Amino acid sequence: MTVSQPKSILLIIGGGVAAYKALLLIRLLKARGVGVRAVVTAGGEQFVTPLSVGALSGEKVFTDLFDLTEEAEMGHIQLSRAADLVVVVPATADLMAKMAGGHADDLATTLLLATDKDVLIAPAMNVRMWDHAATQANLATLTARGVGVVGPDEGDMACGEYGPGRMAEPEAIFDAIMARLEGNGVPRDLAGKRIVVTSGPTHEPIDPVRYIANRSSGKQGNAIAAALAARGAEVVLVSGPVRLNPPAGVTVQGVETAREMLAATMAALPADAVICAAAVADYRVADAADQKLKKADGAGRSLTLVENPDILATVSVLPSGERPRLVVGFAAETQDVIAYASAKRERKGCDWIVANDVSQGVFGGDENRVTVIDDAGAEDWPRMGKDAVAEKLAERIARALA
Ligand code: C5P
Repeated sequence: MTVSQPKSILLIIGGGVAAYKALLLIRLLKARGVGVRAVVTAGGEQFVTPLSVGALSGEKVFTDLFDLTEEAEMGHIQLSRAADLVVVVPATADLMAKMAGGHADDLATTLLLATDKDVLIAPAMNVRMWDHAATQANLATLTARGVGVVGPDEGDMACGEYGPGRMAEPEAIFDAIMARLEGNGVPRDLAGKRIVVTSGPTHEPIDPVRYIANRSSGKQGNAIAAALAARGAEVVLVSGPVRLNPPAGVTVQGVETAREMLAATMAALPADAVICAAAVADYRVADAADQKLKKADGAGRSLTLVENPDILATVSVLPSGERPRLVVGFAAETQDVIAYASAKRERKGCDWIVANDVSQGVFGGDENRVTVIDDAGAEDWPRMGKDAVAEKLAERIARALA
């Protein structure tokens, strides 16, 4: 694949061990004809030399905001806008925090604040730093602003720990860059439309340490939110607990329980469409204990369950004026998929049901095979990736809302 128009990126190399992968990334980009102008932060210089970066990129490497000669030739504002895309590799916890907070205390952060171009980051840090509430809040802020995120991967880390935090491989970053540069040819036909997507499982507490949950990974719902945002929609993703990066350009409302999910969904209205992709727990424990339940020797224990509110049904029966024009539900069935799903559509009052046969190992996987049921009948889609299902569904939603 070679880019159709000559493109260039501004590559910001942050201070982390993973900075060496930036060198491999430059080689991949150059081989495909993408221009690379690089900025190495002071931290980045501890890991890669501007000399090696310049040798691979074939361009002058920038390292300091106050290079006065350079400032006269090319102001930092211009540098931040000359490229088609700004890419941060590795995005350290500190760089992410500065980006989220709008700091501009060196060349890299100044460029990131001054740019009018898309930004893509490849985070890399210790697993605890990645999981820290501060980093996750910064991540949510950045993605809601439209910053693209690739990785991090899960695996062994340079610090000896294991978990998410290892930077994505250069090939994956390269693919994400090419997708952004080429724009994927996706039309912006949902611009001006507001869409709420529910996704992931819900956790229903039994006591402070235990909960009832289900196997939803949130992958399909996240992919739908991303596909809708790519077409220009303003997307609110109401998500139960998942281990996924929030998609770029999407506002995420994290929730735990079905009741919280209902409240967050209703608070996100009015909207043009609501897509209920969450696997909501049908029941919750009637009186969740305030203290950890103790094992009573030999004795059994019963939990009294009460039904949770049905978010899809609640939204579907809102009075006209309040009801979104399009309400879409999902149906995970293991048998007689179309019959059960059609009945569900009638019962809940939604416009479409996207039915899938979960007897075929859909949970947590990357593929799905769905049937879309509306008042005109059932439309069978072949087995495809969850991203492809999301894109096809987003296209159908765009047509319905046009
Ligand atoms: O009844 P069932 O759980 O199979 O219905 C699935 C559909 O209903 C999904 O779209 C799901 O997001 C939605 N749902 C909901 N609130 C519930 C249960 C299901 O929105 N409490």
